Amino acid sequence: MHVADLPKGIHRSQELPDPALGALWDSIVLNKKLKDQLLSQAVLNFTVRPKVARSVIPLHGVILLVGPPGTGKTSLARGLAHRTAQAFPGGRFRLLEVDPHTLTSSAMGKTQRAVSDLFSQSIAEAATQGPTIVLLDEVETLAADRSKMSLESNPVDIHRATDAVLVQLDLLAEQFPKLLFVATSNFPEAVDSAFTSRCDLVAQIPLPDRVACAQILTDCLQGLAKTYSPIGKLITTSAMDRVAGECIGLDGRALRKTVANALAGTPETAMDPSRLSLEAIVAAARSARANRSEGNARK
Ligand SMILES: Nc1ncnc2c1ncn2[C@@H]1O[C@H](COP(=O)(O)OP(=O)(O)O)[C@@H](O)[C@H]1O
Ligand SMILES: [Mg+2]
Repeated sequence: MHVADLPKGIHRSQELPDPALGALWDSIVLNKKLKDQLLSQAVLNFTVRPKVARSVIPLHGVILLVGPPGTGKTSLARGLAHRTAQAFPGGRFRLLEVDPHTLTSSAMGKTQRAVSDLFSQSIAEAATQGPTIVLLDEVETLAADRSKMSLESNPVDIHRATDAVLVQLDLLAEQFPKLLFVATSNFPEAVDSAFTSRCDLVAQIPLPDRVACAQILTDCLQGLAKTYSPIGKLITTSAMDRVAGECIGLDGRALRKTVANALAGTPETAMDPSRLSLEAIVAAARSARANRSEGNARK
């Protein structure tokens, strides 16, 4: 579907499963237990919720992923949609991706209306057609914490948008048992507690630890080695562990960027990436971490 044909606030709508999203899920390095927990919770939504009353098992159909920026939350949410659909062959699942920023950037006073329309019309209509998974990326923009808002810095408009989201979530949860929201937030403290309390699972997505860093680095270098085969020689367990030790504190996105920065470390490697060295990656990692702590110090 072309973007122009999509209802306001929805920036993508696609059929599931989609192998490209499966690859995304696989590309995010995360402990298996947590990945399994996410998948089980999502699957449960489609097995139990249609059959068991909410008074017995209070499932709301909302999963929230929280954690620092760049830890793979958006990728996981999209991948999770695919993996869930895959668990129900022939299930005719659809993924809708909401862009909250387009709703809240509506003219003043219109946000609440835009939010209500999105849920009660666009999402409800999709849910009538079949099992639906909705990605609410960066949900703090939609369900902002009302208790932390001052009226000067946060207009009444946003306040009302949060109310509208909560009302609509309850209505949709009642009407459509085969509907699942997967929300993400970089700032869990900014998400309204009434929203969080509706979540069936709040999963903390951590920064990669040393083992995960080594695995992400290996994945990057293996990908590069497909084109620049000499890079393959850099990949040994001990080398990856040593470089990973220099990367702790970086998020997954920054880690992959570090490898790109190492390639751009000199005009020679930029011209001929097969000349990449471990030392160049270490140098890029140190510089990324130094920039990071400088940035934090300025906050
Ligand atoms: N744990 C991870 N393992 C591998 N790659 C990661 C990881 N976390 C982030 N990345 C990389 O960073 C990119 C951006 O991640 P994204 O899903 O947008 O993160 P977030 O939504 O948390 O900011 C991903 O496409 C992936 O390449
Ligand atoms: Mg994101």
